[in-house]
Amino acid sequence: MKVLIINGPNLNLLGRREPGVYGSASMQECLERLYSAYPGVEIEYFQSNHEGALIDRLHEVGFDSDYKGVVLNAGAYTHTSLALADAIAAIETPVVEVHISNVHAREEIRHRSMISGVCRGVIAGFGLDSYRLGVEAVIGLR
Ligand code: DQA
Repeated sequence: MKVLIINGPNLNLLGRREPGVYGSASMQECLERLYSAYPGVEIEYFQSNHEGALIDRLHEVGFDSDYKGVVLNAGAYTHTSLALADAIAAIETPVVEVHISNVHAREEIRHRSMISGVCRGVIAGFGLDSYRLGVEAVIGLR
């Protein structure tokens, strides 16, 4: 079983970016924890700062039944991208939306998600553990 984790813009800076909001651990540390917690799951990772590249990756895996699902942190594109929402709606592979911070406890502009309605569910506010919860959610999907 494959699970793809996709991170959007600025999430390549995890560990260095606003540590008070996003913590001081890197995505690599997060992935290593996931690889050892889920040895039977092929966890793939993709990050891009470019909207189109995120959409292309969704299209690539979106009709491949080897992928049980996608854990997507779209970063700020969450709040702006109708194109990303359309891509998620277009594909067959289920997508779980995740956020490190509790977006609902932050600025109002972060309260709106363009993608929640086309995702299978939303996880927000658990720090990097949001990714583990996202993987758990994908594994449990029917
Ligand atoms: C984020 C929340 C977004 O509002 C923000 O633009 C991000 C990260 C999160 O994981 O908490 O880049 O998706």
